Amino acid sequence: MEPCSRLFFYCRAGFEQETLAELLWLCDEMGVRVSGTAPARSGYVLLQLDDPRLTGSLLARLRLQSLTFSRHFLACDGPQEPLPIKDRLTPLGQRLASLSQEVGPFAALWLGYPDSEAGKVLAPLCRALQGRLEESLRKENRLQPDTHHPRAEIVLLSGTEALTGYSWPDKGAHWPMGIPRLRLANDAPSRAALKLEEAFWQLLSPEERRQRLTPGQRAVDLGAAPGGWSQVLLQRGLAVIAVDRADLAPTLRDAPRLHHRRADGFHFQPSQSVDWLFCDMVEKPRRIAALIQRWAQAGWCRAALFNLKLPMKKRFEELQLCRQLLLSPLQQAGIRCQLRFRHLYHDREEVTGLLLLDAHGRGKPGARQPGPDPKHPANPAQRQPGRKRET
Ligand SMILES: C[S@@+](CC[C@H](N)C(=O)[O-])C[C@H]1O[C@@H](n2cnc3c(N)ncnc32)[C@H](O)[C@@H]1O
Repeated sequence: MEPCSRLFFYCRAGFEQETLAELLWLCDEMGVRVSGTAPARSGYVLLQLDDPRLTGSLLARLRLQSLTFSRHFLACDGPQEPLPIKDRLTPLGQRLASLSQEVGPFAALWLGYPDSEAGKVLAPLCRALQGRLEESLRKENRLQPDTHHPRAEIVLLSGTEALTGYSWPDKGAHWPMGIPRLRLANDAPSRAALKLEEAFWQLLSPEERRQRLTPGQRAVDLGAAPGGWSQVLLQRGLAVIAVDRADLAPTLRDAPRLHHRRADGFHFQPSQSVDWLFCDMVEKPRRIAALIQRWAQAGWCRAALFNLKLPMKKRFEELQLCRQLLLSPLQQAGIRCQLRFRHLYHDREEVTGLLLLDAHGRGKPGARQPGPDPKHPANPAQRQPGRKRET
């Protein structure tokens, strides 16, 4: 029997409509009929399947890496009786016990609340319940750390309202509520450093981090000033060309393996191809998408990590358009790649994209050797798709 009838998705408050739009699109692609609720500024979306018996199988098919706006997701029960304020532990414990009878022991217990104004006040209650519930699960032998078991989840929506459910450790977030616990280095030139660290965790698998992010690699960082991203890359042992007309932080001026070029990021060309292109320039998203596509098609990089600043309205539609703008020319040129987007915890009105090119993607038709002239304009033929869609 399927113990859960709905799916719950955490997102940033204010992005509920984008989260829902993406989920409806994805479910439609998978041929699963759903409806959803996305209360404004709630920080979450709830999906109801037309056939609730399929909830568990949809949960198993979803991957956080294929979602942009959701931070984490779980299967959860339907509406329940309000929790009594004097004893929330007993009914929550009972709900977990009956869930465990259906899905087996739990690998862990995650308690959370929506990342919204209304949700944040629930943090102390959440902390208070966590230890006590874990203790009773352990006593009943329902807690057995093993990634093959599902993870028990409780989401507090208010002091008297809670959803109980489960998620799969290998498919959802690394952190409860999808909020990373990362520390900014004391000497970081900007808070943007946190964004890049989070992107490496959220967008790359452990295997990809091992293979694609190694000391000695070369990177170009477009829009690098004051240097938060460049510093993260240097700390990971990469050699960096930081492109920005603005100054880098004084702490970075004499850094080994770092070269600062005062140039326009849209005209800069590397003298030889690099492993990574990073781009944090504040520009129209379509222009950035076209730039990344141009670097990929020319074979100037093997991977790219970039930000798209989304407009206030129609963010999801704009993202889909940029996706097409980037992918279509590469597909036409026979260049194999993977494209992922995440709305990171450290992103605000933007999403972070990752383009991974297949090792075999280089040298395909359309690939050009990087030229030595940094002022060399982009190939107009290659810019055509971007211009066409911008009109
Ligand atoms: C959000 S900041 C980048 C922060 C940086 N990633 C960090 O970690 O500190 C955007 C930067 O893009 C630069 N920028 C904007 N347009 C540019 C262009 N056309 N060429 C080069 N740099 C540009 C700005 O000068 C600014 O320093």
